[in-house]
Amino acid sequence: MTTPTAQGARTLGDLTGTIVLVGAGKMGSAMLDAWLALGLSPKRVIAIEPQPTSELTALATRGLTLNPSMTAVRDVAAIVLAIKPQVAATAVPTLAPLLAPDTVVLSIMAGRTLGFLAGALTQHTALVRAMPNTPAAIGRGITVAVPNAQVSQPQRELVHALLAATGMVEWVTDEALMDAVTAVSGSGPAYVFLLAEALSSAGAAAGLPPELAAKLARATVSGSGELLNHSALDPATLRQNVTSPGGTTAAALDVLMAGDGMAELMNRAVIAATRRSRELAG
Ligand SMILES: NC(=O)c1ccc[n+]([C@@H]2O[C@H](COP(=O)([O-])OP(=O)(O)OC[C@H]3O[C@@H](n4cnc5c(N)ncnc54)[C@H](OP(=O)(O)O)[C@@H]3O)[C@@H](O)[C@H]2O)c1
Repeated sequence: MTTPTAQGARTLGDLTGTIVLVGAGKMGSAMLDAWLALGLSPKRVIAIEPQPTSELTALATRGLTLNPSMTAVRDVAAIVLAIKPQVAATAVPTLAPLLAPDTVVLSIMAGRTLGFLAGALTQHTALVRAMPNTPAAIGRGITVAVPNAQVSQPQRELVHALLAATGMVEWVTDEALMDAVTAVSGSGPAYVFLLAEALSSAGAAAGLPPELAAKLARATVSGSGELLNHSALDPATLRQNVTSPGGTTAAALDVLMAGDGMAELMNRAVIAATRRSRELAG
């Protein structure tokens, strides 16, 4: 199977320097697969991962360096932190010996601030904090990135290329926005899957065989997402296009769009996730 990469992503075959991936779990390996699919040579990649998968071990036979001694690593263009936030305080300081004057550190850890990263490395390290989401695994993610003041234009372009391999990339300058970003696009795929679950349960409650209800819900959510992706129209117009006055959709939307309906619920959900992201960041 070929790894899906984001449409229009830049090829990475001409990239110079070494990319160090720290943590090759779900997100880290999705990024690595996308980089390799865009032509990055495994010889340019060092992976630090305590429990390598068989795929990662196999890449070592194609030139990827797995778990080297820190002192043997040279010429690091970027360090990509894809470990869990909980292990960051012990893992990140151990990476300081890898930093060269031009190295940029890209962190995708939820809730770990630029201030935390600078404290764990050095105050003058070029840092980018980013929040991707799980559709990255199929090249359809969206990532929001925020740089610190030390990031140069070439470093920003390198980070952009690494992130764009898995989908769209948006840059912001205000780090405080990352809590709301986490609540909308980071956690957002879970809300969409919940919609599919709820639609399936409601279909079964309305008398459909459960397997058929699940199939209809899954195809409806994924098909509508794809339609939204292909259409130039905004979601409200697409919604109006399937709603005839006095019809069945209108009857359902009267419920979903009532004062305490979906918009209000989503608002409360995003507020709760934003608050939790702030709490976790400390
Ligand atoms: N999944 C998402 O939807 C999502 C979205 C946005 C951001 N993120 C962020 O992405 C990061 C990774 O998430 P994930 O879902 O990919 O987690 P994951 O699957 O648990 O991957 C983390 C990997 O890092 C490894 N690791 C642990 N300690 C390490 C160390 N000291 N050095 C190197 N590697 C180490 C883990 O190995 P062990 O299993 O042996 O511990 C694991 O393989 C998190 O910080 C998360 O906040 C995730």
